[in-house]
Amino acid sequence: MCILIPETGSLRPEIYRFSKVDSTNAFLFREGIKGAPEWTACVADEQTAGKGRMDRVWNSPAGKGLWMSVLVRPQIPAADTPLLTYCAALAMSDALQETAKVKNGIKWPNDIVVDGKKICGILCTASFENGKPAFVVIGTGVNLRAGAYPPELADRAISVEEAGGLADRESVLMDYIQRLTLRVNALEAGEKVEMIENVIQRCVTVGREVKVNGSVQVRGVAEGIGHEGELLVRDVTGVLHSVNCGDVSVRGVMGYV
Ligand code: BTN
Repeated sequence: MCILIPETGSLRPEIYRFSKVDSTNAFLFREGIKGAPEWTACVADEQTAGKGRMDRVWNSPAGKGLWMSVLVRPQIPAADTPLLTYCAALAMSDALQETAKVKNGIKWPNDIVVDGKKICGILCTASFENGKPAFVVIGTGVNLRAGAYPPELADRAISVEEAGGLADRESVLMDYIQRLTLRVNALEAGEKVEMIENVIQRCVTVGREVKVNGSVQVRGVAEGIGHEGELLVRDVTGVLHSVNCGDVSVRGVMGYV
């Protein structure tokens, strides 16, 4: 069974729905290897081995969040693959604002935050062939209800319900997928600069003092986002550093964002 996409009139493959799965990202990656079509999606009530960035565990208890992934086969150069994270961040930021009615911001590169606390994390996993992305699995974990995240993260995490929003999983899911389609299409059409400008407008990291940990280690003020999506951080000596959104963690010196 397929679903009609109103904006384009095209058909989307069915969404896999599980009450329990190891990880929606891992499941779709396996399907991607088997040749699953673009826009195949997967959502689970519970993940038993949810993955976060930098090999962290992503807590995914039953019925507490939107744990989902979408498989894309983007026609973009390999170097632009990390920008898919921005497509997802913008799509989910809009879905949370418009559908769940939660005002939010983007913490560079790929967290969505509300009042300085994380409400959604994004994890992209890519498979490359002949120097191009053969497919990319875009996973998003949205905390919908109290209990979505462990109590020890209470000072840094929040759920839609706790933020006073509408925690309707199905509405956010469908709205997000439609917005993600438009964002990925725009990236494929070369609208990179516009997309990065959209991210800058919503980015709570820009203008703050930050500490970057990863391949680059730097402390300074985040001055902006460059044309390739990199965070531009000026250190105390005045040197400007370009930080790529690979395996880095960025923390505000005065708090989480
Ligand atoms: C992060 O560390 O912030 C990224 C978290 C991404 C979690 C989501 S939940 C759905 C999908 N499946 C996974 O195993 N991870 C992502």
